[in-house]
Amino acid sequence: MTSILDTLGRPLANLRLSVTDRCNLRCAYCMPEEDYAWLPKKSILSFEEIARLVGVFTTVGVTKVRITGGEPLLRRELSNLVRLLAVHPRIDDLALTTNGILLAEQARALRSAGLKRITVSLDTLKPAVFRELAKRDGLEHVLAGIRAARDAGFDALKLDSVMIRGTNDAELCDLLEFAKAERAELRYIEYMDVGGATQWRAEQVVSRAELLTRLAERYGPIEPLREISSAPAERFRLSDGTVFGIIASTTAPFCRSCDRSRLTADGMWYRCLYATQGTNLRDALRSGATDAELADLVTQGWRSRADRGAEERLAEHSRGAFAPREELVKNPHLEMHKRGG
Ligand code: GTP
Ligand code: 5AD
Ligand code: SF4
Repeated sequence: MTSILDTLGRPLANLRLSVTDRCNLRCAYCMPEEDYAWLPKKSILSFEEIARLVGVFTTVGVTKVRITGGEPLLRRELSNLVRLLAVHPRIDDLALTTNGILLAEQARALRSAGLKRITVSLDTLKPAVFRELAKRDGLEHVLAGIRAARDAGFDALKLDSVMIRGTNDAELCDLLEFAKAERAELRYIEYMDVGGATQWRAEQVVSRAELLTRLAERYGPIEPLREISSAPAERFRLSDGTVFGIIASTTAPFCRSCDRSRLTADGMWYRCLYATQGTNLRDALRSGATDAELADLVTQGWRSRADRGAEERLAEHSRGAFAPREELVKNPHLEMHKRGG
């Protein structure tokens, strides 16, 4: 299946499915408030509705699906959705991004339902920093979740660490050592000003350049791996063979090759993490649109896509949070936990 292309010639290959906007943590970079306006229950797509929309997306180019949230493992019986998607012949990559809190309980069921890959968010190895960053306890559950995932057969585990200066950046090397010991691939993520990150300040971003300098001080020469891919992570190798990634969305955005779009739990379709407008696929679906009509909506939306959100942010002179709190209250779909991290 060849994909439709947007105005910059980018294919539509990668669909991120947010299955709930709820979360059991309150990470400072994503959900700094204690309370949020949650999506009404009635508006949340059923697994059958999600699977139908995913089927439509595959007819216009989607081959990679990632399940996200909020925290996706809070969605009841998630493995039933995995089972529906895993049998789809056009999906060649089915992955999940989770904070890991509930992973130990669910890893086996997810694996046997056909999930192929898991990425766990792991920003710190210190319980006190975890509490400061996520406003909850639970690091030991995350670590147990990582082990359980590996034991269940997820051997291509990735660990994502958002680096925030003064909070967890002292753990740069400890996180890498941990990943090495767990045979997982660590990806350092630059703190982004996106969505709900209302406390974002430029000084807190640990840039790719700085990360590489600091890692080289400890580990010696670092070799960039030459890979052609639309994935946001650039990968590097230490002289002992350890491979890690850096996702430099803030200082070196990858918009030019961005093939991803996002479907929220209530069926809004966004074509950029920073997009303020989306397409309401839920209403179309629930008012009886045929698959061909839904595919037309998606095709129109993608063909007119010109988004380069992170690049445009980079061009701004004095940069603060993308959306102030009042705007997020008016348009909660701007939040990262609504549109899938
Ligand atoms: P694979 O490469 O397929 O393993 O997935 P991935 O790199 O998309 O993984 P993941 O879902 O873990 O995303 C990693 C991080 O990259 C996210 O948590 C974000 O911080 C960042 N990211 C993901 N999607 C986008 C995007 O569309 N735009 C930007 N600027 N950053 C993104
Ligand atoms: N900056 C960078 N990454 C973020 N995420 C959420 N908010 C941000 C942000 N402000 C990503 C993290 C987390 C995932 C669920 O979403 O990678 O691990
Ligand atoms: Fe943290 Fe993920 Fe929850 Fe956001 S959705 S608060 S990043 S665990």
